[in-house]
This record gives sequence, C-alpha cells and structure tokens, in this order.
Amino acid sequence: EHLALWGGRFTSGPSPELARLSKSTQFDWRLADDDIAGSRAHARALGRAGLLTADELQRMEDALDELQRRVDSGAFAPIEDDEDEATALERGLLAIAGDELGGKLRAGRSRNDQIACLIRMWLRRHSRIIAKLLLSLANALIEQSVAAGRTVMPGRTHMQHAQPVLLAHQLMAHVWPILRDVQRLADWDKRIDASPYGSGALAGNTLGLEPVAVARELGFSNVTANSIDGTASRDLVAEFAFIAAMTGVDISRLSEEIIIWNTQEFAFVKLDDAYSTGSSIMPQKKNPDIAELARGKSGRLIGDLTGLLATLKGLPTAYARDLQEDKEAVFDQVDTLEVLLPAFAGMVATMRFDHDRLEAEAPTGFALATDIAEWLVKHGVPFRHAHELSGACVKIAEGRGQELWDLTDEDFVDVFKDFLPADLAPQVREVLSTEGSVSARNGKGGTSPLRVREQIVAAKTSIETL
Ligand code: ARG
Repeated sequence: EHLALWGGRFTSGPSPELARLSKSTQFDWRLADDDIAGSRAHARALGRAGLLTADELQRMEDALDELQRRVDSGAFAPIEDDEDEATALERGLLAIAGDELGGKLRAGRSRNDQIACLIRMWLRRHSRIIAKLLLSLANALIEQSVAAGRTVMPGRTHMQHAQPVLLAHQLMAHVWPILRDVQRLADWDKRIDASPYGSGALAGNTLGLEPVAVARELGFSNVTANSIDGTASRDLVAEFAFIAAMTGVDISRLSEEIIIWNTQEFAFVKLDDAYSTGSSIMPQKKNPDIAELARGKSGRLIGDLTGLLATLKGLPTAYARDLQEDKEAVFDQVDTLEVLLPAFAGMVATMRFDHDRLEAEAPTGFALATDIAEWLVKHGVPFRHAHELSGACVKIAEGRGQELWDLTDEDFVDVFKDFLPADLAPQVREVLSTEGSVSARNGKGGTSPLRVREQIVAAKTSIETL
C-alpha cells in the first residue's frame, strides 16, 4: 500500500512500529469533507490548466461525489494501513475512479499544502460555531443583568468588601471579555483567510495551476503570499489556540465567582436543578459541576496552547512532520468548547439570585467608607485628610462591632471637627446608603443604574454589529 504514495525509491514498506507511530487517521479523519472539497477545486484547476480533459474532469468530479457519499454513509472509512486522511481518501478515490484517472489528481499538490489548507478550513468553520455559542452565553448574561434591575451587591477587591456595585454591573463585567473573545475570532479570521493550496511541498507548482480560483472555491479571499510560509507556518493555528485558551480562562473566572456565590456561606445564587449535580453518598448535596468543569477544562485549553507553541518553537521554516501535532491540540480545544459552552450558557440563563441577601450584604464591611471620604472632598476637605477621617469612622464602628451608619451625630461632629462645622457633619448620612453610593458613581463605565443601562445597550449594539 505504501507504493500508492511514495513506492518508487523504496525497497520495503514501513515497519509496523513506524506505521503505528506515523498514523494519524484516528484524529485527522474529521478533515475528510474539507479534503474532498479541496480535491474538487484542485481537479478544476487541473482542468483549466489542460491537465484533465473535460471528460476526465467530469468523471473525476463524479468520483469525488461518490467518494463523499461513501464517507457520509460510513461505507468508506480509513483502514489500518492508511497513514493519514489524505492517504485514505486517495485509496478511496482510486477504488472509484480507477488508477489511471484517480492517479492524476495528485499532480501539482502535496499533502503539505493540502493539510495546511484543510486545518484552516476546518478551524474557520468551527470558529463560527464557537462565536455563536459565546454570543449565546453573552446574551444569557445580559438577560440576567436586565433581570437584576437595581439590585446592589457587595463589590469586592482582594475578595474583601470594597464598594457596593449593581449586580448587573458585576455580571456585565463578564460580558465584555466574552465579546472581546468573539471579536478576536473575527479579527483572526481576516488573517487566516488565505489558502495555501498551490504551495506544493514548499516551493509552488510547475504545472500552471492557478491558486486564486482554488482559494475562492474553498471560501478564501486570498492566497498565501509565500509558499514556504503557506505550508510551514502555524502561527494562525496557535493564535486560534490562544483565543480558545483565553475564552477558557474568561469562563473559568466567571465559574469561580459562581462557585463561591453558590456556597452556603455566600448564598448569593442558586443553580437550577437541571444544571446541577448531586452526590452519590450525600443526599443533601447539590453541586456546581458545570462551573467546576469549566474551570478545570480551562487548564486543558491552556495546555493545548502551550503544547502547540512548544512544538513550533525551533522548527526550521518549511514543512516538517512535527507540524502534524498541531491538529490534536486545536481539535481538543474545539471539542471541549463546543460541549462546554451550551451547558455553561444554560447554567447562567437559569441561575437565580437572592436579591434580598445581596442588598443586605452590599453595605456591610464598611463598604461605604469611600463614600464618606468623597463626601468630605465635596465639602472642601483635601482627600488625604478625608481618607483619614473616614478611616477614623471605620475604626470607631469596628471597635464597637457596628456599621458606619450606627455612628451617632456626635461621633461625626467629633471626627470631622477640624474640617467641618458641627451642623454639617451629621449630614454625611446622606451618602450612607448603597443606593446613594451606586447612583453617585455616574461617570461613564461606572456602576450607577443609568450608566449600567447605557452599558447594556452598548453591549447589545456591539453584538448586533459583530
Ligand atoms: N499528515 C501530515 C500532517 O498532518 C501531512 C502529511 C505530510 N507528510 C509528509 N511526509 N510530508 O501534517
């Protein structure tokens, strides 16, 4: 069988150990449809170059149609001896078209330009599926943000209560990275929109084939400008792998938040039964497995990226067999995201927040201390002093086991005495509400209800124009 591809100068076939190592059909067979599409375009290019007669081209296209049908039905599949998807499909084509005609298709192309083209075709198609899934997730988050209304929650830095924020603001903070991931895919698509078909093994072809037409037929607007780059570069595959890994990381960070919010101690959110799992031993358990799987799988997505980068590092620039290792990395990423994202979006769409609890927790932990300081600034106190005065209020409250709004008028008068008249000091209470606190953060991008509404509209517009 090895004779089919390179028999001429060999006296023996590959050893069984080599065959086992070399074989890639177990993972690259998923490129079969793209390979056949490429063959069809290539056959037409051979026809235009006068290397297939009109009748031969017709029979070739019929044979490729039949091959596609056999692949679709499973009647044709790789066997043990096939090295890769291209080898297998060549065997399938020869069986249909005969050695004479079938043997003409390989002219002017190499598995090097073929495989470089196929991985681009396959990735572009799946990037669109992933972009759609990401947009569903973004939409689920936006709907939750709308439903959250003006509910306020504890905003945290270092996981400590920092300043109150709208629940909607916190949720929308996860929408933007996801939209950027989708934008990254769209931007990447412009770069990968070039077909390497016609690059041959590395140097181009001698047969007068026109790569532009092949590219158009395969959905590319351009042809790679350099045949060595076309066959040997994988930076665009790695860039996809980065976007997939980044997507995983973005979702993992949201997961971590959901997992914490879902604990008994936080009790900010409840997950729907259909998107939670139970325990085989503890009857009471309801676990956030989707979020945990997302967090866990993000590690795999990163591993796929770093593995691929390590493979590429140090490769001389023209095809080397190492490049075959690009595929499993991105196949794994795509498989992972295509299974993960629908479940994750379903979990997000159906989770229920405990608004009363969020509201009650929002101002605790002296989360309004910044508001006191900024209120003082508005009354002419330099911020450096305002910060200290507010800190003094916190100290008193903390010492008494109270919150800031429990301080008496006398407390405020006393603390502010070097800077404010006694009748003004107690008026600081006007900013000691979460509602006042969030509404005051009214600059663009801030957490005031007005700005958050504006933000939601902007996100929706951004999705429409994607
Ligand atoms: N299966 C290979 C790959 O995925 C393509 C075959 C190229 N083989 C070769 N000996 N040049 O990269």
